[in-house]
Amino acid sequence: MAVKKIKWYKIEETAEELLFNENNIAEVKVKDKKICLIKTHDGIKACASRCPHAGGDMMDAFLDKNENIICPVHRYVFNLDNGRDLNNEGYYLKIYPVQMNAEGIFLGMEEGGLFSWWG
Ligand code: FES
Repeated sequence: MAVKKIKWYKIEETAEELLFNENNIAEVKVKDKKICLIKTHDGIKACASRCPHAGGDMMDAFLDKNENIICPVHRYVFNLDNGRDLNNEGYYLKIYPVQMNAEGIFLGMEEGGLFSWWG
């Protein structure tokens, strides 16, 4: 089985530079992909900007009391650690790893997939 390589992309120096909305969600672009960053009590988490159900804009999502993310369109609830939909309909929200250290905030993306040569 092929091991997926993670490449890390610097997003910002500090969390203070990110423009979080009132629901603690900010949008950034990494490699032409829109990514949502979510401020939680466990640090910053990251997910795709589109809901896997019907493409809802996760920038307008909100968090429940357990810091799961709720899509604004049909209110599916997704776990921000593994992307699983808690409605058990089998949808997965793409989750990206985030690292914060003295050099900044970094988002990890898988490299070397079948279509990686598309850029
Ligand atoms: S588009 Fe997100 S739950 Fe339907």
